[in-house]
Amino acid sequence: MLFLSFFIYFQAFRYKRNGSHRRLQYVSCWKVRFQSVLILLMLTETFIRHGIVFGTQNVTVVGLINLFVRAAVLLGCLCLLFLEQRLFWNSQATDTIQLVSWSCFVINEILCIVSWNSEEWWFINSSSSDQVQLGFWISRLCISLLLLSSKFFNQKIKRKKPENFESGSNEKYGHGKLSTWHDFWKKIRFLFPFMWPTKDVVLQIKLVLCVALLIVGRVINPYVPIYYKTIINTLTKEPSWQMVCKQAAIYIAIKCLQGSGISGGILHGLRLFFSIKVEQYTTRTVQVKLFKHLQSLSLQWHLNRKTGEVMESMQRGTASITTLLYTFLFQMLPSLCDIIIAIVYFTSAFDVWFGMLISAWIILYLVATVWIIEWKTKFQRAQNLKDNRAKHVAYDALLNFETVKCYNTEEYETLKFRDAIVDYQNSQYWTSATLVLLNMVQMVIVHAGLLGGTLLCGKYVLDGKLQIADFILFETYMAQLYHPLGTLGHYYRLIQNSFIDLENMLDLFNEKIGIVDEPDAISLSGEADLLEFKDVCFNYSPQKPVLKNVSFKMKSGQTFALVGASGCGKSTITRLLLRFFNATSGTIKMNGINIQKLLQSSIRNCVGLVPQDCVLFNDSIMSNITYGMKVTEEQINYAAVLAGIHHQVLGMPDQYATDVGERGLNLSGGERQRLAIARTILKNPSVVLLDEPTSALDNKAASEIRKTISQLNKGRASLIVTHRLAMAVDADCILVLENGEIVERGRHEDLICANGVYARMWRQQLDDVLADSNLMKLDLCANETVGSKKTL
Ligand SMILES: Nc1ncnc2c1ncn2[C@@H]1O[C@H](COP(=O)(O)OP(=O)(O)O)[C@@H](O)[C@H]1O
Ligand SMILES: [Mg+2]
Repeated sequence: MLFLSFFIYFQAFRYKRNGSHRRLQYVSCWKVRFQSVLILLMLTETFIRHGIVFGTQNVTVVGLINLFVRAAVLLGCLCLLFLEQRLFWNSQATDTIQLVSWSCFVINEILCIVSWNSEEWWFINSSSSDQVQLGFWISRLCISLLLLSSKFFNQKIKRKKPENFESGSNEKYGHGKLSTWHDFWKKIRFLFPFMWPTKDVVLQIKLVLCVALLIVGRVINPYVPIYYKTIINTLTKEPSWQMVCKQAAIYIAIKCLQGSGISGGILHGLRLFFSIKVEQYTTRTVQVKLFKHLQSLSLQWHLNRKTGEVMESMQRGTASITTLLYTFLFQMLPSLCDIIIAIVYFTSAFDVWFGMLISAWIILYLVATVWIIEWKTKFQRAQNLKDNRAKHVAYDALLNFETVKCYNTEEYETLKFRDAIVDYQNSQYWTSATLVLLNMVQMVIVHAGLLGGTLLCGKYVLDGKLQIADFILFETYMAQLYHPLGTLGHYYRLIQNSFIDLENMLDLFNEKIGIVDEPDAISLSGEADLLEFKDVCFNYSPQKPVLKNVSFKMKSGQTFALVGASGCGKSTITRLLLRFFNATSGTIKMNGINIQKLLQSSIRNCVGLVPQDCVLFNDSIMSNITYGMKVTEEQINYAAVLAGIHHQVLGMPDQYATDVGERGLNLSGGERQRLAIARTILKNPSVVLLDEPTSALDNKAASEIRKTISQLNKGRASLIVTHRLAMAVDADCILVLENGEIVERGRHEDLICANGVYARMWRQQLDDVLADSNLMKLDLCANETVGSKKTL
């Protein structure tokens, strides 16, 4: 009770600190009033009863402590009741505390029945004071039973989410208040296919063998204590060497098969051996399926994702599936079977009291375990999210290490990471603390049960109902049972944690595939000869339109240039063409077919993109150029020569086998861009999209690349997105984009004559170039003057 009052006040204190006002009003008023009245009645009874006792007998320390603790618990519960109704916070923990309190009150009163036969029992003497005491007892029992049942009833009340509900740190996944067993069957249905190796008969046989070994293990389990008892009986009653030899051999053989709690026996070993491949199958299937799913998600999802968090969810989720399936099947289920077999055995071989005792013991153990673990869930969830966050901070800093170094922010990043770790450890503290509490409660219950069973068995032996050998059997069996019971809590915890880890991964699986092919989508046959944008409008978010009524038509062999200020929507046009996004309105056609009616893979097969920001895989130059294509060495050399990178590569230490480093950062921006061009040349697409292909190059390199590009563009439809107008001069048509609208179109000369936006941009760039060349001339003059002075 003292412990309980501590928990109650602690919870009340946390309620005050963390609760938010009037967020959740799920407990209807009359129930709170009813419970409050009952608590007040109980409080009054406590004071009156102690008043009478202290008035008629001496005031004892025990009596005072009893009065104080009961009053403290009752007042604490009253306080929690009101807090729970007025504030929205962790009502699950409050529920549990109240439930435990009322259960303790009921058990406390029921324990009085133990002295039913005693001379001191109120009924027996029947004096007036005893009758008053009996009346008090009955009223206490009734009130505590009412309180307990009202709590149970309360649990079933549906919890409504208030309209403006904003969850805390779990907002992303929204599992904050839900039980881990929420959507249990859905999760199981999801898991099951990963377990049964549909296409592999050998694996299926192995799985069946594992299950068979488990069943055999359960059957032989009770025979260990039984044979132990038989040996003792043989030794004590009619000792015969032959019999002892035979029984000992059987006993040791069974023991060898069964193994002890820590080191598994032969059956366990065989089961582990057969399950290796099956478990590998499960892990592999989950990982591959998830990876495939992530690959199919939209570009927008990938642009917004946090790599560290995704990797962490993936890793934990995969591990959780194996734990869930195999812990449940190979650990928890056998432990449960062992317990049930023990109950049945003791009920039939000893008597029903033993069966009841073990059942009560196990139920108490399980209920306490489940309660505490359910309470622990939210700490575990918060811990996972904080863990993901810490990983994300670390990944981000490592990926952007160049920026970190440039800005001297190593200390800042370290502190950010440290804060994330501290945050994570704060959550972990609560998870670990609840775990310690759980272990202590489990220990107390297990040993209380063992004590009860030993005492009962000892009494039966003394009364002559059982023999000494039975006592030994009981103790051996209980010791054998102690292990599965102890591990049951552990497995429950494991399974529960795995369910939490699984939730994050399920969220990834539930992530909608952004753009899906229509069921009747067709493949683009042949080359894409005609490309058409018709009144295309697009926005990433409804508040900000990016493209407005963009229309143009491009044929094979034509080169179009798309020019405009930064952020006006040029790259967006290339993304729409590749169908990374669907146009909000208007149509995009290839060979006269709306691209929404085409298979995405067939569109991307015939379109080659040289992106603005060429990020490479951390692999060799060779594999980055050939990326996923089967090509000959000659073809690679040809593409590299055309892209103007061949000689540079030959000058590198490992030539084509040189590693490009993380995201290709060992290469210069220009080299990366040339590499991307070489890759596109190898792909040989019928439509080429070049998004700022010379953005990372100097003027000389840019003019070289321009020649390369004009080679690349021959016989294809190509769209060059550029802010460098020199690239657009030779284009068949220049599209000038301003604020998402095409404001001018035509050949270079026509647009210059029109003296519009393009001409202004052209003059501006010309001025910049002239200014640059003047600067260079000045620089040269200065150098010459210095040189001549030196020679003088
Ligand atoms: N994935 C995205 N989500 C939301 N807005 C975006 C996204 N990509 C680009 N934008 C916005 O759309 C506008 C056009 O971008 P973009 O087409 O990349 O411009 P640019 O003409 O420089 O290539 C910009 O204002 C940019 O901020
Ligand atoms: Mg761009």
